Amino acid sequence: MSERSALYEGKAKIVYGSESPDELILHFKDDTSAFDGEKVEQLAHKGEINNAFNAFIMEYLQREGVPTHFIRRLNARESLVRHLEMIPVECVVRNRAAGSLSRRLGVEEGKILQPPTLEFFLKNDALHDPMINTSHIRTFGWATAEEVEAMRCWTLRVNTLLSALFAKAGLILVDFKLEFGRFDGELYLGDEFSPDGCRLWDAQSLEKMDKDRFRRDLGGVVDAYREVARRLGVPLALES
Ligand code: TMP
Repeated sequence: MSERSALYEGKAKIVYGSESPDELILHFKDDTSAFDGEKVEQLAHKGEINNAFNAFIMEYLQREGVPTHFIRRLNARESLVRHLEMIPVECVVRNRAAGSLSRRLGVEEGKILQPPTLEFFLKNDALHDPMINTSHIRTFGWATAEEVEAMRCWTLRVNTLLSALFAKAGLILVDFKLEFGRFDGELYLGDEFSPDGCRLWDAQSLEKMDKDRFRRDLGGVVDAYREVARRLGVPLALES
């Protein structure tokens, strides 16, 4: 561990301050958690793969006009980002039924959802990230009506962009979670995009290539992340 003091330590990342108060350093850990942190394991090299993966996706989204907090990758496990004031809402889009939607609504895993669903969850492990709606977001002041509308539009735009990107790599983007924050009065995409926060299936075999391999004890978690990165053309740095 470095001498720097962490501003915040999450389940898969540590956030450090930088020389500028407007910028933060995201450190990607090998720690992998599921079920609100009930199950945690260290998976060798996951941190560096997710750092490279996230940089690739964030840079792609930025080129396509999505405002993101990403500035640049600093080293194998760290990236520099804008210091956002985070909105405690997780935005989830689903193109196919899986996970909590299948459980909640009794929908068979894999069913194509047309149009894709958009759900909001409160980021709160102690409450197990309950599903919330736009009325809750307004009433409890988590975000303004304009921010909710912007989060909705950007999340659906990201879905369009990334579904096409993954399809070219022979992968189905089943679902994913995004988090947003504010900087200078503007909304930015924050947090990370990696196989920790989305579901990706092989388009032919429907094999799971994401964190469900960890949640369900399927093994080969990091190998699957590496394969997804390889198919997308993400350059993987060596451990530093
Ligand atoms: P779910 O099926 O558990 O609701 O998750 C939907 C997608 O969102 C899945 O790809 C995992 C991701 N997700 C997270 O990464 N973190 C979270 O806290 C939640 C609720 C979902």
